[in-house]
Amino acid sequence: MDRNLALEVVRVTEAAALSASRWMGRGDETSADQAAVTAMREAFSSVAMRGTVVIGEGERDEAPMLYIGEKVGRSANSDPEIDIALDPLEGTTITAHGGSNALAVIAFAERGGFLHAPDTYMNKIAVGPGGRGAVDLDASPQDNIRKLAKALGKDQRDVTAIILDRPRHKDLIEKVRSTGARIRLIRDGDVSAAIATCFPETGIDILFGIGGAPEGVLAAAALRCVEGEIQGRLEFRNDEEKARAKKMGISDLAKKYTTEELAKGNVMFAATGVTDGDFLKGVRYTATGAVTHSVVMRSATRTLRFIEGRHHFEHKAPPKG
Ligand code: FBP
Repeated sequence: MDRNLALEVVRVTEAAALSASRWMGRGDETSADQAAVTAMREAFSSVAMRGTVVIGEGERDEAPMLYIGEKVGRSANSDPEIDIALDPLEGTTITAHGGSNALAVIAFAERGGFLHAPDTYMNKIAVGPGGRGAVDLDASPQDNIRKLAKALGKDQRDVTAIILDRPRHKDLIEKVRSTGARIRLIRDGDVSAAIATCFPETGIDILFGIGGAPEGVLAAAALRCVEGEIQGRLEFRNDEEKARAKKMGISDLAKKYTTEELAKGNVMFAATGVTDGDFLKGVRYTATGAVTHSVVMRSATRTLRFIEGRHHFEHKAPPKG
């Protein structure tokens, strides 16, 4: 995968973040999401690739833009074929409430690199590089905290877990609490939470719990680039969801996926902060434009770049959306 794509893809996440951030705190999730989707789709048109959305806004009949299977990019014959996982606005509710850690997110892989995850839930466990190999989705939370603390060389009371604050996690939260570990309960945004385990300055050591399956694939792409680890298993609420997974080519509905099985081969990941977060600042407006903060990473080289974009609207109009 051409390394220049890494910089091009940041323009795309920047466009989505700039548009979505206009809706920060305005209580309108739909408009925030729509703004991000419209801007992201528009920005894709100049990227030198023949892209196919494999994780997107939904099935073709339910999402008019960036639906699964949609072709995006400049699409010249010489452009590389790329599979794309995206979430133009990861954290619609966060944005609508002006909360923390909303992101515009894209991951690229070579053809066939991403698990074609259905829009169901996934049970996940994620750790940063220091915890790789120490945890297991099928082990108890107590065991995982104990082994992670040992791997990180700290007391288990000093381990910090991050968990979506949902009634379905009541038992999980109680078990983690029983170890003495600290917990950050979040209202939304488990892509950002999984990635946070790889940045020591966030203070987050481990993500536990059930969130979106597409979000699991996006997080896996990022964790591949920074040598973290995520394991996931699809969680179904009904037979219709199971049927949808089968339609998407998943035969073993109980499979436990490794990081590499979620996002394999050469992958690239980019995110731009929409609202302030643990490792990216949100969009800030100035008298003449805006400032964005993004991260872009590649699995081939493990290079990670933080990019500050200074946008001057008198020279380049802000994206539509
Ligand atoms: P949206 O951006 O679609 O609002 O998703 C936010 C999110 O919190 C994800 O990060 C997470 O994986 C999922 O929703 C959890 O789903 P639920 O809100 O149904 O528990």
